[in-house]
Amino acid sequence: MTKIALVGCGLVGGSWALVFARAGFDVTLYDPSPASLDAALDFARSSSSTLAELDLLNGQSPSEVISRLKPVRNLAEAVHHADYIQESAPERLAIKQALYKELAPLAKMDAVIASSTSALPASSFTAEMEGRERCLVVHPINPPHLIPLVEIIPAPWTAPTVVERTDALMKQVGQVPIRLNREIAGFVANRLQSAILSEAFRLVEDGICSANDVDTAVADGLGLRWFFMGPFETMDLNAQGVADYCAKFGSTYYGLAKEQADPREWSGPLIATVEKQRREKTPAGNLDARKAWRDRCLAVLLKAKSDVLRGNA
Ligand SMILES: NC(=O)c1ccc[n+]([C@@H]2O[C@H](COP(=O)([O-])OP(=O)(O)OC[C@H]3O[C@@H](n4cnc5c(N)ncnc54)[C@H](O)[C@@H]3O)[C@@H](O)[C@H]2O)c1
Repeated sequence: MTKIALVGCGLVGGSWALVFARAGFDVTLYDPSPASLDAALDFARSSSSTLAELDLLNGQSPSEVISRLKPVRNLAEAVHHADYIQESAPERLAIKQALYKELAPLAKMDAVIASSTSALPASSFTAEMEGRERCLVVHPINPPHLIPLVEIIPAPWTAPTVVERTDALMKQVGQVPIRLNREIAGFVANRLQSAILSEAFRLVEDGICSANDVDTAVADGLGLRWFFMGPFETMDLNAQGVADYCAKFGSTYYGLAKEQADPREWSGPLIATVEKQRREKTPAGNLDARKAWRDRCLAVLLKAKSDVLRGNA
């Protein structure tokens, strides 16, 4: 049975714990901060109750799932038996470089060592490491126990078998992997998100509409289709195929893309405008409650999506 170790158990590591435990794996958890470890276990307990309520624990009880989580006091104890290590330490290059040097002799030579990093290529923190062919990036979207996508990005020296084993494990635990052929800044999901955020700020800066109207355009418009399909399938179904859509609308989009070509900095006054509009909708004191609401919505939608796709709707 594959043994899992989580290194770094903050926001993302805590959610990874549920992904692996829910799938039946024993998981050791290590974090230098005891408070983070406690918070991760509290998070796993409360979230697993919500998942059970929505029948998203494959018939298991929350306590069965939580019993597979084993917090440990040091890195060696966490990783020495692990077949797969998911690292979710802070997004700072120096921390990751030091951590991977420390991990090199502690992890098994045939273990997979995956980083959750949002933006750092694995080559930037594993270059000097012994056994670097074990390492790659497995980038989740937060929170991974409710959002299945993971991006698998090998470094130039990652062994092909490591990519294959990671892909298979991700599918086994219910995540949906996509594979990048080579390292690129922002990977795929954040490059797409960057294009949308860039345009969203431009629309507000130019006084075309409010920040809340941008959010409505996605939440009550584009996002409903995107819940089930991506932009290419969307265009495919909005005409008689992609070629027909491009013939009808390609030149319009090309014109828009030229207008969107000059990147703008997200500047002080612009940020203040968007911040003010957001705080009017969600006061600062309500942000945590709103995050819990988001996670509940995601869980309900995940259930609905799996029912629809299984033909149960
Ligand atoms: N937050 C997100 O939305 C998100 C999404 C996808 C990926 N990520 C990536 O996941 C990683 C973790 O992000 P997060 O948001 O969970 O951060 P976080 O600050 O919530 O958690 C980081 C944890 O790492 C611990 N830590 C500090 N030094 C460490 C060390 N040397 N070894 C092991 N653990 C250490 C901290 O105590 C903390 O609990 C980052 O690389 C980030 O880019 C974050």
